[in-house]
Amino acid sequence: MLNRVRESARVFYEVHRERWFVTRHEDVRSCLRDRRLGRNFRHVLAPEEIGAPRLDPRWQAFWDSERWSLLWLEPPDHTRLRKLVAAAFTPRSVERLRGPAHDLAAELLEPLADAGEMELLYDYAQPYSIAVICNMLGVPLDRRRDLLDWSHRMVKMYEFDVTDEAATAANDAAAEFQEYVRELIGERRAKPRDDMVSALVEARVDGARLSDDEIVSTVIVLLNAGHEATVNTLGNGTLAFARHPDEWRRVVDGDVAPQAASEELIRFDPPLQLFERWVLTDDFAIGDVAIPRGAKVALLFGSANRDPRVFERPDEFDVRRENAAQHIGFGGGIHVCIGAPLARVELAASLDALRRWWPDFQLVEEPRRTGAFVIWGLEGLRLVRS
Ligand code: HEM
Repeated sequence: MLNRVRESARVFYEVHRERWFVTRHEDVRSCLRDRRLGRNFRHVLAPEEIGAPRLDPRWQAFWDSERWSLLWLEPPDHTRLRKLVAAAFTPRSVERLRGPAHDLAAELLEPLADAGEMELLYDYAQPYSIAVICNMLGVPLDRRRDLLDWSHRMVKMYEFDVTDEAATAANDAAAEFQEYVRELIGERRAKPRDDMVSALVEARVDGARLSDDEIVSTVIVLLNAGHEATVNTLGNGTLAFARHPDEWRRVVDGDVAPQAASEELIRFDPPLQLFERWVLTDDFAIGDVAIPRGAKVALLFGSANRDPRVFERPDEFDVRRENAAQHIGFGGGIHVCIGAPLARVELAASLDALRRWWPDFQLVEEPRRTGAFVIWGLEGLRLVRS
């Protein structure tokens, strides 16, 4: 379907969804870097100026948790907070996590290999990814099932056509999550440790400390973004390997490094299908299609990643593909994924452990998609060793 759409139009307006959809690699890439577009408009435009709805006060707890999220902010607030967080995500500091990530993957996968069967997401990918990001932030693991549950409910707000029921569930999750993070901030303030929550509590920018609201939003976005996409990359990617055993053999036999293979996983079946931007100025156009100020633009990552203008035989899953890393999976521009170095380490460590402990596997049954589009993943993935 995405192929048909991409080849018939580089950009089109969808009346029902009231959005412009951008389909090709070159355009998606340049939109991500275009400062005439913003993830938010509220720093420069009033909602009534562009006919955008006001934030529904019934979901106030959810908006509060987003208020200082990197994904909600634009400069100068975005620049200020991002600089602080970026200091923790340098390639070198993340590289130090490679060994521990590998040990953790092996600890989880070895007993599952003995059992001979697993549901990859629940038994492995979720506990693995949540442990990696919690360790990095200094968040204890005793509430990890709550963290997963809050996150799953909250990210439903990024989908199209959110029902009141889903929004209520997201709002309640946001309220509980904030309360939990506030307690954690209190504990770290009283007794700082060598972790990222303590660093955020103690940080000063231009002599001023961050407010608790800013720290809460930052911790929540890091925790949520820090596992949702990684888990779904592992799920979508392992499914791709199950369907293409020859490609998996190349990884198992060492012909292709796990690091290189993980780029193709993200290109072939990205865990995030779409991100949106608002048009902030009057002079924005894609090709000869002018798009008015206040319009919403949806960037189709999945479509861009299969663009034949960039990738040869784009519908083939090919772990030897030389330019797989040109995928759009981590975004670009000022909001480019800050956790990409960590995600790359996590995925490579994971594939490395999987090839050691699960060199041969097959599907127990055909997996089902969750039904969500933006956060693109599987309900579960049951595997058996063969
Ligand atoms: C395979 C895994 C991952 C994928 C595919 C992914 C993808 C993305 C994408 C596409 C964006 C940009 C959104 C936009 O432009 O609107 C983004 C932003 C972000 N990601 Fe990731 N991500 C992954 C893993 C992670 C991890 C492990 C973390 C850990 C902290 C993380 C934290 C973030 C944060 C905080 C942002 C917001 C950055 C900003 O707005 O300045 N991500 N991610």
